[in-house]
Amino acid sequence: IRRGRAPREPSPPLCRSFAAAADQPDRKVAILGAAGGIGQPLSLLMKLNSLVSSLSLYDIAGTPGVAADVSHINTRAEVAGYAGEDQLGKALEGSDIVIIPAGVPRKPGMTRDDLFNINAGIVKSLCTAIAKYCPNALVNMISNPVNSTVPIAAEVFKKAGTYDERKLFGVTTLDVVRAKTFYAQKAKLPVEEVDVPVVGGHAGITILPLFSQATPASNDLTDEDIKALTKRTQDGGTEVVEAKAGKGSATLSMAYAGAIFADACLKGLNGVPDIVECSFVQSSITELPFFASKVRLGKNGVEEVLGLGSLSDYEKQGLENLKPELKSSIEKGIKFAREN
Ligand code: NAD
Ligand code: LMR
Repeated sequence: IRRGRAPREPSPPLCRSFAAAADQPDRKVAILGAAGGIGQPLSLLMKLNSLVSSLSLYDIAGTPGVAADVSHINTRAEVAGYAGEDQLGKALEGSDIVIIPAGVPRKPGMTRDDLFNINAGIVKSLCTAIAKYCPNALVNMISNPVNSTVPIAAEVFKKAGTYDERKLFGVTTLDVVRAKTFYAQKAKLPVEEVDVPVVGGHAGITILPLFSQATPASNDLTDEDIKALTKRTQDGGTEVVEAKAGKGSATLSMAYAGAIFADACLKGLNGVPDIVECSFVQSSITELPFFASKVRLGKNGVEEVLGLGSLSDYEKQGLENLKPELKSSIEKGIKFAREN
């Protein structure tokens, strides 16, 4: 008889759902922008998720090839590719979750807000179609600037009379993924045991990792270490943009993060209890109308927006510092959607 600790499970949550039995409800997931840098690996990861019964891959071009390729993988989801606007309705019909990584990425020297002029229009037209063809779907917004594209989506849905604040999410999981990785490296902790909430928004100083709430706690980190970890998390996207030197921004780590978040949404929809992830949602935990924090996911999307918990003085200052920029990005999105 072997004694001692049971071997650790493979890292959650993707591996667990890869292995799960297929006795799950039917769930259709649509990916808009599926032929892109994020879209392709995200399509692969969603094809590996046994909670998905139907995977709908949409882009303006290139999706038949991606769909044919991914469809040969011997997992549960049936895959269909749709290319061009005239196929968007079919791609969306019946979707439980729509993931949106459509739009242009940054090049070195650009901010996420520099993407606004192109991506705002793309998001607006895609959300108009969502309101028409799958108004009850959960929407996972990846397209940048998330701090503005989520408010744009909300306005489009309000105009269409389909807005349900529980069903709209800005995907900020990559900030959490980064904070966990950097914290575990610095504190010399096993990364799979680490958790770090990240709140605020998804751009520069609006990204506020709460290392004072990181688990397991570490007593070895100095104030300077925390400052450096905070800055690295806030600049994580720029680190990748610069390393890719003009060839785009994070795609693989984003696909991973997007798959983690969609998996959590699917579990919530399926009634799995205690599914909590950070996300940029409609919120009243600060004076700002949208804010990223931990949210509890359930059968209708957001079940509960969780509070910020207790913050260190450094984090309290970070919270005050981020509010003006986040407020103006939210207002910019709302204004665009109302005027266009
Ligand atoms: P990419 O250029 O490689 O792919 C984008 C895809 O969107 C392309 O295939 C393009 O054809 C498609 N597209 C453009 N207009 C479309 C439309 N109207 N309908 C459907 N598809 C359309 O870019 P990428 O690297 O995949 O990044 C996509 C977006 O995700 C960017 O805005 C980027 O800034 C953002 N992003 C967000 C996060 C985050 O943490 N939320 C992380 C990384 C990237
Ligand atoms: C990221 O955080 O990697 C994304 O928002 C892409 C970017 O432009 O940094």
